[in-house]
Amino acid sequence: MYPIDLPAWQRLQQDFEATRHLHMRDLFRQDPGRAERYWLEAGGIRLDYSKNRITDRVMNDLVALAEECRLPEKIAAMFAGEKINRSEHRAALHTALRNLSDAPVVVDGEDVMPKVRAVLSQMGDFARAVRSGQWLGYTRQMITDVVNIGIGGSDLGPLMMCSALAPYGSPRLNMHFVSTVDGAQLRDVLDKVRPETTLFVIASKTFTTQETITNARTARAWFLREAGEADIARHFVAVSTNRQAVAEFGIDPAHMFEFWDWVGGRYSLWSAIGLPIMLYLGEENFIDMLEGAHLMDRHFATAPLAQNMPVVLALLGIWYIDFYRSGSCVVAPYDYHLHLLPKFLRQLDMESNGKQVRLDGGRVRAGTGPVLWGESGINGQHAFFQMLHQGTQLVPVDLIASLEKRSNLPGHHEILLSNVFAQAEALMQGKTAAQVRAELQAQGQPENEIAELLPHKVFDGNRPSNIILTDRIDPRNMGSLIALYEHKVFVQGVVWGINSFDQWGVELGKQLAKTILGELTGAIEPAEHDSSTTRLIRLYRRTNCAEDGTCALFE
Ligand code: F6P
Repeated sequence: MYPIDLPAWQRLQQDFEATRHLHMRDLFRQDPGRAERYWLEAGGIRLDYSKNRITDRVMNDLVALAEECRLPEKIAAMFAGEKINRSEHRAALHTALRNLSDAPVVVDGEDVMPKVRAVLSQMGDFARAVRSGQWLGYTRQMITDVVNIGIGGSDLGPLMMCSALAPYGSPRLNMHFVSTVDGAQLRDVLDKVRPETTLFVIASKTFTTQETITNARTARAWFLREAGEADIARHFVAVSTNRQAVAEFGIDPAHMFEFWDWVGGRYSLWSAIGLPIMLYLGEENFIDMLEGAHLMDRHFATAPLAQNMPVVLALLGIWYIDFYRSGSCVVAPYDYHLHLLPKFLRQLDMESNGKQVRLDGGRVRAGTGPVLWGESGINGQHAFFQMLHQGTQLVPVDLIASLEKRSNLPGHHEILLSNVFAQAEALMQGKTAAQVRAELQAQGQPENEIAELLPHKVFDGNRPSNIILTDRIDPRNMGSLIALYEHKVFVQGVVWGINSFDQWGVELGKQLAKTILGELTGAIEPAEHDSSTTRLIRLYRRTNCAEDGTCALFE
């Protein structure tokens, strides 16, 4: 059944027609209980969703839509380890990685919890040894630098968490993340570190990803210029599901941290992929992060849909995407250390829900995953917020901040938070022509200038935002926050009837790049391409290949 054919969807269409002309400032004026009613708390996170273009009827119908899509059943199926990632025949069990209860989680008849706990304890032992200096490099010096080589989910989660939680990080460890294959990033990192004191974490679920394996090979060759083959064991560890490929690469599987195919790349920071997080923050903080996520999982699994934070956040997104036809949404953290959060969430959301085919193979008949973008809110205010306030598109915004001061510099946090609250208020209230006129008259502006300026200074308002507050940015609350967004994405996928856990859309480019790589290097003759691609390949060859046609692949 397509969601648009469900009774609740039809009612929502009517709700949209009935409410789209309402202004939120009137809704606030008429309803003193609005802020209190549209407020949720779960797992260290507070959500104020009162500044959305909703009424009780809209919310009831959105929740009814979730029920008609059998969301409770689907949530239970995910937690139970059913193979909900149907196109890859896999479960999606990131929740098992942070299952800190005694409850078993069964996949294919096997309780996966013992192996989850075993890897967690292997990670703990290793992190303790590295952090304490018990684990030494080949010249008996302590490890000072950790270089994570991975891309996508094998990069963004650890990178974002290490940055978000930097105040909890070891001052003795410098963390580096290498993801791109253009060489400049790896070269920059290798220029800064020494082989004697560097630990490389090669992170790849498949261990076949071209960018990661190329970077890992180059790092290995760099290391071997100073050290011997036998020293690799003290400086290279792998995180993967592919034991054989790890061994073939030359890393002893004894130095491999395993995870499993039921952990999706963009949902993997809770698994061994989180090793850099644990190295940097320590085992206790890593467990706290898991606990925070577990709290959100419990809330998601048990709270009634209308009071369920991920569900509410997801349904609000659907309201804007499918009824207001808004194609994008912004995440604006008001916290310097969270500046990578939008980047992380972009993969989470867009790789999960950027789909047009339903689980049953049919085409969707509704809008699906939006373009998610954003950056530090305070910087955004001086860059793109203009468009959010006065542009022609409706772009819902999540404003994220911590109540606790992030530094002891006097006055800074107050200014920061005043901007969070002011932006949400401004987006919602706007400024009427009458207000602008009164302001300009009070400034003594002549009438002809007022008439000229007035239309530019009017803000329509009625622009939606959520405020997401934590008491403080700590490992536990970060765990809750990320789990909140993971579940939000899942709920939207359920309503649209798509598989949020596969990513076939990334394959075609990879496949074509393989052929083109051969053509660029002269290994194979240019095949038949469109005239644009052929022209580009020829240009590259003219620039980089010798006259006899030979092109060096590696220096
Ligand atoms: O190309 C997309 C992707 O498969 C992501 O889903 C994944 O997070 C990333 O590549 C890295 O994959 P791997 O961990 O297997 O190297």
